[in-house]
Amino acid sequence: MESNPLRIGLSGRKLPEACTIVIFGATGDLTHRKLVPALYNIAVDGDLPPGMRVVGFARREKSDATFRAELAEANLQHSRQPHDDALWRPFSETIFYHRSEFQDVEGYRALARRLDDIDTARGGEGNRLFYIASAPEYFDDILQNLRAAGLNKARSGCWARVIIEKPFGTDLPSAKHLNEVVRGTFSEQDTYRIDHYLGKETAQNLMVLRFANAIFEPLWNNRFIDHVQITCAETLGMEGGRGAYYDASGALRDMVQNHLLQLLSLVAMEPPVDLSADGVRDAKVNVFRSLRPLVGSGDIGGNVIRAQYTEGSIDGQPVAGYRQEDRVNPESQTEAYVALRIHLDNWRWEGVPFYVRMGKRLPKKATEISVHFRPAPEVLFNRMHVEMRENVLVMRIQPDEGISLRMISKIPGANLRMEPVKMDFHYATSFGKSSPEAYERLLLDAMAGDATLFARRDEVEIAWAFVDEIEKAWHQSPEPPPLATYPAGSWGPSEADALLAGDGRIWRRL
Ligand code: BG6
Repeated sequence: MESNPLRIGLSGRKLPEACTIVIFGATGDLTHRKLVPALYNIAVDGDLPPGMRVVGFARREKSDATFRAELAEANLQHSRQPHDDALWRPFSETIFYHRSEFQDVEGYRALARRLDDIDTARGGEGNRLFYIASAPEYFDDILQNLRAAGLNKARSGCWARVIIEKPFGTDLPSAKHLNEVVRGTFSEQDTYRIDHYLGKETAQNLMVLRFANAIFEPLWNNRFIDHVQITCAETLGMEGGRGAYYDASGALRDMVQNHLLQLLSLVAMEPPVDLSADGVRDAKVNVFRSLRPLVGSGDIGGNVIRAQYTEGSIDGQPVAGYRQEDRVNPESQTEAYVALRIHLDNWRWEGVPFYVRMGKRLPKKATEISVHFRPAPEVLFNRMHVEMRENVLVMRIQPDEGISLRMISKIPGANLRMEPVKMDFHYATSFGKSSPEAYERLLLDAMAGDATLFARRDEVEIAWAFVDEIEKAWHQSPEPPPLATYPAGSWGPSEADALLAGDGRIWRRL
């Protein structure tokens, strides 16, 4: 077996076994912006096993050399650690290009022969990781052709796994159908449904914060917590030709069904029985099972606000409204913002609302979870007419990853005056290095056979059932709740403020 010239110091993580990663949709944006830069950074950190190979599978005609040159260009722009030609060159020599239509089974048979040659050159190890990152309409074809070419079957002593990108279906029936196709091709144990939010360092830290510290868990319930907010704000609109995809999807399906419900499950779950993939995923599924259906429980408009941005400005630059965006229907009814009040019908969270919001073209990019504690009894300091504010624990998922705790403190001086102050922890300063990108962690985990940070079939299906109900109320009921608007660059529609104001609460200012 060859030695990897990039092993310039291990991060301490056990190297996974060598494998060949086949990326379907290799000429796409995700491969260029995320997947290959992630592999490059894993290599730079010394965590890529010797003998690793990458094969890009796509429809366009291209040589290995052209493919590598295009990837180098992208890596220069998107790599977390600076692109270094001396490191890139040997890394890029492990990347190959395979041209085929996704529907053409012959292309997969040729791929099988090529993978066999790679295995022989590597010295016999035949582990394979198929990464389906194409447009979603090809997912079925790719899975079926992998099976037809016998690529879904691992050779003896080796493994064959599949990673499936989002969107995993567009509603419950399509997700179930895709799950059936997957099940006919790979076992659940070899199936890795990606949700890149689970690979974010701070999302992983949620479990550590809750279960490795003794001070939080006793308070983590409806006796001490008033409510929880989860916000995902983005400044982006419909750049890069995303308008068509997004207009057919909307914020609820694009972000809530997956990323935001996943974050909610990590905040709300019971301690898992162990840290195995199924231990953690069982605990998350129990949260999903306790989601109170929004439609049955009353008026959907009273629990969910949807909105589109109108023209406005971001960072002083004028930007178009949602309906004026490239490849968006000028009469679109699709939401680019959604806010929900979610209740969990279980012992721990009875009566504690989870307010979840996400929006495009908001004033800044920030994702955070804030846990708002019940106020202290108002018998002492409230007599002094000082504005009391509750303790808030904030977990900043991105950017400026960290955790802060807001508490009330006395202002120095002879008078008793009080003000909220913050205890603040920043990843960057505490650990002195940048966090790995989500895709680095997730690729390494899939290579190592650890599915903890990937969604299981039942999680995905329950989350779709929850979201489908809302979609139905929006698009199929005789009197759908109105679609609100907000100027681009503002913090969303006033209706979302009213959703909390009705409960005597306000959104946290980010
Ligand atoms: C993707 C969504 O899954 O996540 C995008 O399709 C969104 O619409 C993106 O912009 C956000 O990811 P991140 O990591 O930039 O927060």
